[in-house]
Amino acid sequence: MATLIDGKKVRDHNLEIMKGEVAELNAQGVYPCLCVIIVGSDPASRVYVNNKKKACENIGIVSREYAMPEETTTEELLSLIDELNADKSVSGILCQMPVPKHIDSKAVLERIDPAKDVDCFHPYNVGKLVQGDNVMLPCTPAGMVEMLDYMGVEISGKHCVIIGRSDIVGKPMALLMLQRNATVTICHSRTANLSEVCSQADILVAAVGRPNFVTADMVKDGAIILDVGINRMEDGKLCGDVNFAECEPKASMITPVPGGVGPMTITMLMRNTITAEKVAKNIK
Ligand code: GUN
Repeated sequence: MATLIDGKKVRDHNLEIMKGEVAELNAQGVYPCLCVIIVGSDPASRVYVNNKKKACENIGIVSREYAMPEETTTEELLSLIDELNADKSVSGILCQMPVPKHIDSKAVLERIDPAKDVDCFHPYNVGKLVQGDNVMLPCTPAGMVEMLDYMGVEISGKHCVIIGRSDIVGKPMALLMLQRNATVTICHSRTANLSEVCSQADILVAAVGRPNFVTADMVKDGAIILDVGINRMEDGKLCGDVNFAECEPKASMITPVPGGVGPMTITMLMRNTITAEKVAKNIK
């Protein structure tokens, strides 16, 4: 029987600490502020943006929402970002993805001032991450590292196998685990002998976007499994990338879906917003 890694518990622990930090900053006249831009009316994006606003309110971060119509042009969006970049009361800027197809999303992400890039998506911040010298944290990967730390897991020297090579999860997770002296393997759709490679993992990260993709034969006895997948099934239920029923008995620790990695992404977004404001105001 594996120990469940409770994402809500780790989130609440972190939010409580941040609430205190924000109160201290407020007492010095410093007000961390997150601006969230949403273009169009994608229902999933609306839910994510609402959750981000709620998290801000919960810990005392000022949140501003910029809801723009579907037909917004790239130029209009870039001009809003320029305005927010120049606004000293703004600590962090996030443009909810995906944006409508006609918008140049790369240009948008590259326009955000790296010092306000709380998603850690800007090439400057990605480069810093590669060098192990980053200020901003990639939110979902940093959330997983936070979970491992909370559970008292020693990362150094462990073999971490990551399934998935996305810019948002797989690649930055590999970089964070390297920073913590893990031995890292990234697997993807062309990996030969996937099951054999995965079954060597001390820490197995599933970020594929396919329900129940990880099966028991891919799991070493005693492995720690982190499941990033959030797949909506036909019956409306959420399902991870890991076949939980099969894999849980072999693992020493495992994240559930929902209530595992999911709640940590916004938590780390709050952390980045506070960090951005502290750096801007030269506060240690
Ligand atoms: N869409 C889904 N996840 C994210 C995220 O972490 N940041 C942004 N900006 N958009 C997203």
